[in-house]
Amino acid sequence: MDFWPLKIQCQAMHTSRFSRINRLVSSSVLLALVCATATLAPAETTNSMPVLKIKADEVKAKVSPTLYGLMTEEINYSYEGGLYGELIRNRTFKANRAKPVFWNAVGDAAISLDTNQPLNSALNLSLKVDTSKASKDSPAGIANGGYWGIPVRPNTTYRASFYARGKGFSGPLTVALESADGQKVFASATVRRISKKWQKYEVTLITGNVPVSKDNRFVISTTKRGTVWFQQVSLFPPTFNNRPNGNRIDLMQILGAMHPAFLRFPGGNYLEGNTIAERFEWKDTIGDISQRPGHESPWGYWSTDGMGLLEFLEWCEDLHMQPVLAVYAGYSLRHEHVNPGPDLQPYVQDALDEIEYVTGDIHTKWGARRARDGHPAPFVLNYVEIGNEDWFDRSGSYDGRFAQFYDAIKAKYPSLQLIATTRVRSRVPDLIDEHYYRSEEEMEAQSHMYDTRPRDGKTRVFVGEWATRVGSPTPNMAGALGDAAWMCCLERNSDLVVMSSYAPLFVNVSDLNRGGSMQWRSDLIGYDALTCYGSPSYYAQQMFSTHHGDEVLATDSQGIPTYTWHPPARRRNGVEQPRPPAQEVPTLFFDATRDSVNGTIYLKIVNRLNTPQTVKIEISGASAVEPEGTAIVMKAKSPDDTNSLQEPTKIVPITEPANGLGTNFTREFPAYSITVLELKAK
Ligand code: AHR
Repeated sequence: MDFWPLKIQCQAMHTSRFSRINRLVSSSVLLALVCATATLAPAETTNSMPVLKIKADEVKAKVSPTLYGLMTEEINYSYEGGLYGELIRNRTFKANRAKPVFWNAVGDAAISLDTNQPLNSALNLSLKVDTSKASKDSPAGIANGGYWGIPVRPNTTYRASFYARGKGFSGPLTVALESADGQKVFASATVRRISKKWQKYEVTLITGNVPVSKDNRFVISTTKRGTVWFQQVSLFPPTFNNRPNGNRIDLMQILGAMHPAFLRFPGGNYLEGNTIAERFEWKDTIGDISQRPGHESPWGYWSTDGMGLLEFLEWCEDLHMQPVLAVYAGYSLRHEHVNPGPDLQPYVQDALDEIEYVTGDIHTKWGARRARDGHPAPFVLNYVEIGNEDWFDRSGSYDGRFAQFYDAIKAKYPSLQLIATTRVRSRVPDLIDEHYYRSEEEMEAQSHMYDTRPRDGKTRVFVGEWATRVGSPTPNMAGALGDAAWMCCLERNSDLVVMSSYAPLFVNVSDLNRGGSMQWRSDLIGYDALTCYGSPSYYAQQMFSTHHGDEVLATDSQGIPTYTWHPPARRRNGVEQPRPPAQEVPTLFFDATRDSVNGTIYLKIVNRLNTPQTVKIEISGASAVEPEGTAIVMKAKSPDDTNSLQEPTKIVPITEPANGLGTNFTREFPAYSITVLELKAK
């Protein structure tokens, strides 16, 4: 179930506006296009073998080194309950103003929210725990079950911390990692004295040779009577690169394996917020985590902002990605907007400050602040995006808002590349961010859309969100096939499309019911508290991002079979539009790139049919191609086949030797398959 249906409907409108007639389909296919019948299943339109032609002496473009990157935001418990290492859910008790959700009383403790005992102005309430019925035989306290469990692993050190103050209570407190029923204690530690004033307490919890499990809870309890208040109760497992306040290791590793060139952050809708007051206000996300108030995310749950601006930047540093910084531009999801002019100026200044925080040296105001926050070295920043999906702004203010940001940023940082989120007239953006969420058929039908897009040499394209939305919670093989067809298009046109990022990246799959851990279907990577897996779409993307050259070679084709697709009728402003005519769509997709240093040609071929296709491959302009090369193949028996927590590697690419290659060869491509052929050409 999607949380934001209105936006999805409008996206469908947006995505169709660039549709173009397929330029590369062969004449027989174009003829078939004219004579399209109402065939539902894929149908061959020619009996001759399809021919793919690669022109090794015709370099069409350079492959953009930033073509494949990541886009994320707080959705589907991507950070809290996902990448961000914190294991305690609702650690600051602000997720619900009426009651301490996700917390339970242990023993006979009475627990309640208390706005009269704030830790500070950011964490302006606390959890009051009355232990007046505690005894030696019946300890009282609080328990938290984490984000659908707390992962316990053997011989592991966890760092627990909390703020507390007592009244008629001076300790001790026992801090423990236990099974959910309290029967097994995996690790525990004692805090001997609790002060009358707010103070931070820290302990380490070290497990022994215990089995791996997730149905566990974190408990703070006492056998003594009195009243104790808590704030920011935190538990961290080991993190990637051992960063304090850092990220979950397995998720960082699965991202690293994609070799992403950039990270677009912090959103998406998460940048905008439902209202201006709920936008991603970066100044509230830096510094000590106890000074971060947190905010309501547009995806229906609270964010503590533990994953703040510096954490995003350090995430980039850890995975050698460049940041693509999206700055709030005066528009929020419920159609609130700020008028260009003096009203907008504070937001423009916020963006300038933010850029200074990222890039300024320690003698600048915000560079000094970053140094105080623990990172004296400035980050390299090349791209700044002004807003998100501003085509939703019905007030028509984006042109003026973009111009105001553009002028101020370019005046101070002339070399920054500025990204517009929809078309503007008053300035020429360096890039425009386009978003495409589509079915498999639509992805395939649009798989040549950039071939004919005019190149004006001024504004290039960032496909900042795209996905073939087939399969839930994560895409299946049909999704991967649509994605691969689309990526052939991106790669072939990467002189124009210089950056792209699939979205959304993450989903916690623990509770797929409404109101559970997923707000958006078809997400690249799934996980629960313990393990993660990549969808077939994840592996398709990894195949593309880790196997390409630096030059795009010219290609052509003949006799590619087609299938007939009947596009669904769309709704516009609530009104159903006439159904578009049926379309012939290719069943094979391909592109070729070459490594200019060693001559290797990377030929990508996607067969979306339920039968193998034998294809003739002709390479002109190369004196020879060695008979032996490598094939990386991902295939499935059914388009519905998928990966899951239970079967994480059901569909994965297999690398195998490829024989019988040359400048002219035929090869069979399996049903429902994506192949990268590495050809050693001279
Ligand atoms: O990726 C999910 C959402 O889709 C993003 O938050 C938004 O930018 C788009 O509408």
